[in-house]
Amino acid sequence: MEMPQSDLVATNSIDRTAFEHLYAGPAPWDIGRPQRQFVAIADRVASPVLDAGCGTGEHALYLAGRGHRVIGIDFVDEAIRRARAKATDRGLTVQFLVKDATQLGGWGERFASVIDWGLFHVFSDDDRRRYVAGLAQVLEPGGRLFLACFSDEEPGNEGPRRVSRQELYDAFADGWEVESVVPVRCEIHPEFTEMTFSEGGPKMWFAVIRRLA
Ligand SMILES: C[S@@+](CC[C@H](N)C(=O)[O-])C[C@H]1O[C@@H](n2cnc3c(N)ncnc32)[C@H](O)[C@@H]1O
Repeated sequence: MEMPQSDLVATNSIDRTAFEHLYAGPAPWDIGRPQRQFVAIADRVASPVLDAGCGTGEHALYLAGRGHRVIGIDFVDEAIRRARAKATDRGLTVQFLVKDATQLGGWGERFASVIDWGLFHVFSDDDRRRYVAGLAQVLEPGGRLFLACFSDEEPGNEGPRRVSRQELYDAFADGWEVESVVPVRCEIHPEFTEMTFSEGGPKMWFAVIRRLA
């Protein structure tokens, strides 16, 4: 099965089946440790934390190891199963839940920080709006979203949808302040060969976005 090309996903989010396929092999983002660029900003993260689209949990577990209270959600059962197994093996406490990130509205939990490494860019325009509306409910006023997404500076159309800086400002125009958007690279699993990205890893935007009161 092939991943959707990025020009198709304005109307269709990358679906669960595509992610299940990727977790059957070396998932490109699943490098067995947190992304270096995430570690660089981790001091700014405050508890409690939601890791949205947590995958097998490396960022959530890293934060738990630093003493944070963390909930990780993902809609793929296998990703959550592996995340829970890692937590047990490492003696760390994280609540990992199978949950759809486009359905955050109505959830009773509240967070001071949300981290999103590689989730926003999988969404269609409609799901993007649903996701942002749900985030507005679960993130406390003054809380921050730390978001890394494929950049429109990444050439080609393999993999997820490219996102421009302007799209980030547009998506978070109402009730949010986009504090910074900087270019970063995503580290990729060395055994992942299904797609070709820029040398040094796909180009991403890393945004820090504050929920206004
Ligand atoms: C690019 S991966 C990143 C995983 C993790 N954040 C990391 O950095 O290792 C995106 C993750 O989002 C999950 N995902 C995609 N759509 C989702 C949705 N609607 N709700 C919850 N998780 C979703 C996928 O299953 C996948 O694990």
